[in-house]
Amino acid sequence: MDVLILMGSPRQAGNTARSLEPVQEVLRAQGHRCRTVRLYEKELRGCTACRTCQKDWSVFGCPQHDDMQEIFDLVLSCDLLILATPIYSWYCTPPMKAVLDRLVYGMNKYYGGEKGPALWAGKPVALVSTCGYRPEKGADLWEEGMRRYCKHSQLRYLGMLAERHLGYDTVFMDWEKAERAAHFAAGLCRKLDGGEPAAPSHIPDPGHI
Ligand SMILES: Cc1cc2nc3c(=O)[nH]c(=O)nc-3n(C[C@H](O)[C@H](O)[C@H](O)COP(=O)(O)O)c2cc1C
Repeated sequence: MDVLILMGSPRQAGNTARSLEPVQEVLRAQGHRCRTVRLYEKELRGCTACRTCQKDWSVFGCPQHDDMQEIFDLVLSCDLLILATPIYSWYCTPPMKAVLDRLVYGMNKYYGGEKGPALWAGKPVALVSTCGYRPEKGADLWEEGMRRYCKHSQLRYLGMLAERHLGYDTVFMDWEKAERAAHFAAGLCRKLDGGEPAAPSHIPDPGHI
């Protein structure tokens, strides 16, 4: 299967990148192809709420000319989408947020007069994040937001790997984190194969946004 990793950290050899290494190793060992897009190297503008994307239900349809069309095409064609981000101010980094905003409108044709389809309905999504606080207090709002985002967008939320960074003067990666990352990736493989249910969402549908 084709796995697309959207990498939202500005530090290409930082903690989030290190967390991704064992994840990719396991996915590749299981025969999956991994492709990473480094969002900080792309030109990505924010959604301007013009709603041009709602006119044609068969295409992305965003009138902005930046790197988002390429990302849209890769997301649409992948079999598993992994969103990797350090937590910044209790959520994801700015380019990841720009991508999420552009996709929630570009993929979900819900915002014209008539409710249309979610072009990416059923796509599995997983999160890899790192944060300074304990993950329960650092990455919880990001996960909650993404659970709602997935439910709203008819995506299949598979779960989050979140690891704590104790400071820039400490070594981030250790064998326990590597083991948890490998275990997380093995779980993703099982869920993709249909052997294990996706992470349940207990959040009511937020409706239109
Ligand atoms: C601007 C900025 C904002 C941050 N905000 C948070 C936060 O709200 N909560 C948290 O737990 N950690 C926060 N952190 C810490 C990072 O999430 C953490 O150091 C992370 O592991 C960095 O990952 P990276 O090496 O991939 O960049 C912040 C770091 C920066 C630079």
